[in-house]
Formats: sequence, C-alpha cells, structure tokens
Amino acid sequence: MPTPHIEAQPGDYADVVLLPGDPLRAKYIAEHFLEDVHQVNGVRNCLGFTGTYKGHRVSTQASGMGIPSLSIYVTELATVYNVRTMIRVGSCGGMAPDVNMRDILLAQGSSTDSAVVANTFTAGVHYAPLANFELLDTAYQIAKQKGLDVKVGDIFAADRFYNDEIDMKKLADFGVLGTEMESAGFYLLGAKLGFRALSILTVSDLLFREGSLSSAERERSFNDMITLSLETATA
Ligand code: ADE
Repeated sequence: MPTPHIEAQPGDYADVVLLPGDPLRAKYIAEHFLEDVHQVNGVRNCLGFTGTYKGHRVSTQASGMGIPSLSIYVTELATVYNVRTMIRVGSCGGMAPDVNMRDILLAQGSSTDSAVVANTFTAGVHYAPLANFELLDTAYQIAKQKGLDVKVGDIFAADRFYNDEIDMKKLADFGVLGTEMESAGFYLLGAKLGFRALSILTVSDLLFREGSLSSAERERSFNDMITLSLETATA
C-alpha cells in the first residue's frame, strides 16, 4: 500500500489535508494547531501528520515546491489514500497594485506557463484551472467574519521562480493578484481526480514595490492563514 513517496498505511490520512510546500511548516501546523498528532510520513523528509482540530480529524502533508513535486503527493493522496479535500497553504509574491504584504489571497483560478496543463489537452485548448467553489465561498465568508484582509482572484503559477521571459506586469494589468508555483497543477488534478481543491496564500513579497516582513509578522500571517484553512476544511 505505501507509495514510492508516502509510507503511511491505509486510513492514516484524514479526509481533509492541508498542504504546505515546506516540510517544517507541516510540522509547525501539527505541533501548534492539531491535537493527538502522529507522524504518518517521513519519506524524503517530506513530512506528513494526522491529528484533530476542534474534534475533526485533519492531516497536513508537505507538497514540496513546484507543480511536479506537488503533483506527486496530491495524486497519491487522492488515488491511494482517498483524500477528498485538500487546501494548499502557501506563500506568494503580490502583483496587483492593491495587494499588500500579509494579505491573504484565495486563488479563484490559476493561470500558468506550465506545460502540465497544456499537455493534458489537445493542441489549442487552454484549460482554466479553478478552485472548488464550495471551499472558496466558505473560506471567503470565514475570512470576512474574522476581519482578515482577503482578496479573491487569479494567481499565476510559474514554472520557474527565476524567470525574465514572462511579462509579469502584463499579467498584473490583466488582474492577476499574485504568483507562486503550484496552484494551476493543483486545481487541474482536483478536476481530474475529483477532490475539492483550494489554495490559500499569504503575500510574502511584492514584485513591483518594496515590502518586507519581520519574523513576527511572518508568523502571525502564517497563523491567520492556517486558522482560516482549518476552519474552512472542517466547516
Ligand atoms: N512564492 C512566494 N513568493 C514568490 C514569488 N515571488 N514567485 C514565485 N513563488 C513565490
């Protein structure tokens, strides 16, 4: 039963999984937000944990960086461990003029230069990867109730972190809120494999303006995002 990348046994993962890129963030979520926690994956140090949040069973599993890495974990979680709801909890670079450091962005859809999306369809088809609306709506309502600075829109999932070919300014002019490296592939797999997918992102840098976060601010915005994700996942 364990897969090439996950050593967990059947039933070790909850129905809902939070997916940070960084394994140490999966550990942080497990230690600071979940009760009755145990580690379910340690292969390649891509850590996974299962515990409870307010009595609901919840897991967190690191996805690694970029669509290729995330696709491995998400595919195995969906097809082998039958996970039905996944929320990516990540960071992004802010692009739109009204997006600020520490904002929380809900990726309604995800444009991309990734060949993974293009290669899933016949030539000429430009598929639009979208979030699960039920999760998106729930997250938005909860964020508003909590008074969080939340914005909803398009997130550009770049294949390369370092890239001077793509006109990011043009994407911003077309309303793209921010950029990271996973959401388009994540939403594509949600549609293909039939799980509910939502990316919730905190703004950790700005592409066109100065901006920095102290480590205390970074921790506070990460904690706000995790609380929102857990409330959404268990609503
Ligand atoms: N994740 C956080 N900031 C990012 C950026 N500027 N580009 C790509 N991924 C990111």
